Amino acid sequence: MTKLLYIETVGCQMNLLDSELVVASLRKQGYELTDTPGRADTILFNTCSVRQHAEDKIYSALGRLKNAKQRHPEKIIGVLGCMAQKDQRKIFERAPFVDLVVGPGQLHQIPRLLEEIAVERGPRLEVSLDRQAGRRDEIERSFESYDPDRDPEMRPTPYQAFVRIQIGCDKFCTYCIVPSVRGPEQGRDPAHIRAEARKLADEGCREITLLGQTVNSYRFRHGDGRVTRLSDLLAGLQEIPGLARLKFVTNYPKDMTDDLLAAVRELPKVSPYLHVPAQSGSNGVLRRMKRGYTVEDYREMFGRIRERVPGYAVTSDFIVGFCGETEEDFEQTVELVRECRFKNSFIFKYSERPGTKGAELFADDVPEETKRRRNNELLAIQNAISEEENQQFLGQTVEVLVEGPSKNSHRHYEEEGPILQLTGRTHCDRIVVFEGNRRQIGELLPVTIYDTAPHTLFGEVVTCEVGPQVYSLS
Ligand code: SAH
Ligand code: SF4
Ligand code: F3S
Repeated sequence: MTKLLYIETVGCQMNLLDSELVVASLRKQGYELTDTPGRADTILFNTCSVRQHAEDKIYSALGRLKNAKQRHPEKIIGVLGCMAQKDQRKIFERAPFVDLVVGPGQLHQIPRLLEEIAVERGPRLEVSLDRQAGRRDEIERSFESYDPDRDPEMRPTPYQAFVRIQIGCDKFCTYCIVPSVRGPEQGRDPAHIRAEARKLADEGCREITLLGQTVNSYRFRHGDGRVTRLSDLLAGLQEIPGLARLKFVTNYPKDMTDDLLAAVRELPKVSPYLHVPAQSGSNGVLRRMKRGYTVEDYREMFGRIRERVPGYAVTSDFIVGFCGETEEDFEQTVELVRECRFKNSFIFKYSERPGTKGAELFADDVPEETKRRRNNELLAIQNAISEEENQQFLGQTVEVLVEGPSKNSHRHYEEEGPILQLTGRTHCDRIVVFEGNRRQIGELLPVTIYDTAPHTLFGEVVTCEVGPQVYSLS
């Protein structure tokens, strides 16, 4: 009998991938997806703890389910992912009607747990060991993720996929909860990564994004002592027929080594798009964040990208209002943004996370109002830069991997026949919107840009080909 599953996912790409895998495993058990929680037999939340706001959102969504659960006690409600690992039993205290709490290292157990709950009710809790709970290898094992074969239909588009190459994080930035909820850093066996990539390519996947919290710190030590680095892994993946593009996120500034930049430059499938969060432009703040580099180190790294990677596009994350951040510190961040001219930046207000070194050592002393002002100011500066940077594409022809109909396409074009508004990305990860037809989804097309906005390029497909390679690969 078909059962209906509703799943809501917040957080980073790692969580999107995890949800995809959970859904794939439950489809095998006869579940189908619904986007209406009211109709679902099982409701799952895949959660994030990186900022307080992300947690609040889930606790209020749970609160809204209380009455539904009273009326339909047979509905199963589960909390998965990082907040499950962080709050564990506390989730049952705040929401006693929750049936299941499963950390990111135990997601493979969900099909079994749901079967058990169907037979015998009672809350189930499956989480990894605390990072201080024992020997490193025991803790590592308790966080081991699973990456089973997935259902091609479950990917955001059949032509793109995430592939995990690393789990956990060992950097322990003082503001960050990730190392404690995702466990120790572990690189996945390159043979498994290549096998998964090959299978995805055989299914028609054109673009793979490799995932890791500090993806460029990836290292896998083989039994014979050889080490595979990210650059070696990319060189292997470059050879897989069918794949057109390779991306990887998120990079740690200190680990942006020359061999990796050489791989980005030399391997044609590797996108020149690098997400390398700076977090702040002030050395005092970076030191308190324990980021392990100075703003001079970051500038030096950025200089190497600029010199060595033609057509590069660098994006960043920033936290404003971290403990003790003065107006002068903030101005130094503004300076860094103006100087680097990032393609885009994600800007966050500092959110204190209990259990982190930051919460223990420093007072969260920047008023909310100041955080908000700095956030808006930095965002306005970044948006103006993004818009200016996009203008260089006016009149240029770029190669676009077509992802599917754009968000507005149905509203504008449904009645007008087969022509619809499509969206895709350039090699450097810029979003391009243009008119086309459904058959073009999944193809690489030359598109000439005639208009730009801060985060979008608008173009027209080049229909008359003068010869091969008439368009630039940016
Ligand atoms: N591993 C990645 C990203 C981790 S989380 C990296 O190291 O860059 C994504 C972003 O959330 C971070 O880059 C940081 O900018 C932000 N972030 C993390 N903890 C935060 C906190 N406590 N408050 C506000 N923003 C935070
Ligand atoms: Fe968090 Fe720092 Fe690790 Fe990124 S590198 S996940 S910000 S601890
Ligand atoms: Fe959030 Fe966990 Fe990702 S805390 S940012 S979902 S690793």
